[in-house]
Amino acid sequence: MSQISEHNAVKIFDTTLRDGEQSPGASMTLEEKLKIAHLLEDMGVDIIEAGFPIASNGDFEAVNEVAKVITHAVVCGLARAGAKDIERAGAALKPAARPRIHTFISTSPVHMKHKLQMEPGEVMDAVISSVTLARKYTDDVEWSAEDATRTDHDFLCQTVEAAIKAGATTINIPDTVGYTVPQEYGALIAMLKNRVPNIDKAVISTHCHNDLGLAVANSIAGIAAGARQIECTINGLGERAGNAAMEEIVMTLRTRRDALPYDTGLDATKIIQASKLVSTVTGFPVQYNKAIVGKNAFAHESGIHQDGMLKNNETYEIMTPESIGLSESSLVMGKHSGRHAFREKIAELGYELGDNAIEDAFRRFKDLADKKKEVFDEDIEALVDDEVFRGGDRMKVTRLNVVAGTEGPQQADLTLEIDGEAHESSATGDGPVDAVFNAIKNICGGAARLKLYQVHAVTQGTDAQAGVSVHLEEDGRSVVGRGADTDTMVASARAYVNALNKLHLKRQKSAPGAR
Ligand code: KIV
Ligand code: ZN
Repeated sequence: MSQISEHNAVKIFDTTLRDGEQSPGASMTLEEKLKIAHLLEDMGVDIIEAGFPIASNGDFEAVNEVAKVITHAVVCGLARAGAKDIERAGAALKPAARPRIHTFISTSPVHMKHKLQMEPGEVMDAVISSVTLARKYTDDVEWSAEDATRTDHDFLCQTVEAAIKAGATTINIPDTVGYTVPQEYGALIAMLKNRVPNIDKAVISTHCHNDLGLAVANSIAGIAAGARQIECTINGLGERAGNAAMEEIVMTLRTRRDALPYDTGLDATKIIQASKLVSTVTGFPVQYNKAIVGKNAFAHESGIHQDGMLKNNETYEIMTPESIGLSESSLVMGKHSGRHAFREKIAELGYELGDNAIEDAFRRFKDLADKKKEVFDEDIEALVDDEVFRGGDRMKVTRLNVVAGTEGPQQADLTLEIDGEAHESSATGDGPVDAVFNAIKNICGGAARLKLYQVHAVTQGTDAQAGVSVHLEEDGRSVVGRGADTDTMVASARAYVNALNKLHLKRQKSAPGAR
């Protein structure tokens, strides 16, 4: 087996909070971003790209707050080549222990002509001025040649050389449109290593999109050719078909160390926790057969496979579920379990909750144990997530009655508590969910548009909790609300109201004078 040394250490640059959040409908609140950033740091991620500070006040605040709390990982903010972008990124990153500015400009003919409407000479000037300005804020500057894989090689070499000369310490080679294939991408990285005279003064980075399903394969080809940083996201979240999936890269390098002698140093046992967190926060479910983190990734259904597995795990398992932090779905305590055992279970599942939050979650666990025959780890996770992400909501559903069935009209009667005051409402609708949402809208008004309503069963069985995600949009603001309950209508009402609470917070933040 090959030795892992500093020479073959690969840095993990996570962009879940930036490129991942650019995925339509995947917007996250500040609190959610901070939670993800903490987990990324715990996993040992080297660089956390926390946002694009010029894009909005919310993005500036996210980068700024992540910069305040992250101590070991590098915190990175994205900036286009203009001075305003770079100044804003510099300001957002001011509190960071290890700040990085990531500045980019397109270098491909199609982007320069149609998107930027700039001549190559002007782009070259912008590369030099942007990197030079970024270096005034930090010594750690990354430069990206957007659409590098469709860029003329001579021009790419010239811009990379100029960026390094101006002070860039990382050179990122994005496959922005997910167009390249592994041998071509590997050859591109090798070409840069051979032809750019000062390339040894910078780390080469991969940034591959997944439009052809090749993002991970391309990234690994880049590493084999000499790149030493991979840009990726949890669950492969990202625009269009997404970015390279971090969990796939990490586990490929770990499982095939014999063929790929590179190491990321990441704590892979936190992968499943990170995957669940990102899925919960965004409301984007993980595809059942997704490599590494899909529900079926370690399930062996066929008789022949099960027989083999019973004889020896290695017959059909190339990595263990434990290596990514997955344990056998275990039955937890029932209704007689006490606070102490519940606290221990919460800690074992990786949560750090304050006394009040534990007390609230414990009360809900008791209610759940009364309703449900068997309570699993997933049930506890769903109700704790529900509780944690709901903390501080000013509106709460305190009562709900629904009439459903074949004899319409379906009707919902509910009580909504707003800032401690009870408001009652009754409404009909095209089905019970519509009736519930109409009853809420009667009280709250507003012009929020429902973009997505999604239900999944947290565990198996007809008494399973329903996990509901509701995606609302209003005046360009986008939020995802969540709710969980054994009653799908209650979970739906909670999710809708959670989304309205988030919209309210966003409205307040963007009000004139707010900061
Ligand atoms: O895909 C891309 O080109 C990007 C750049 C901003 C690095 O995300
Ligand atoms: Zn990208």
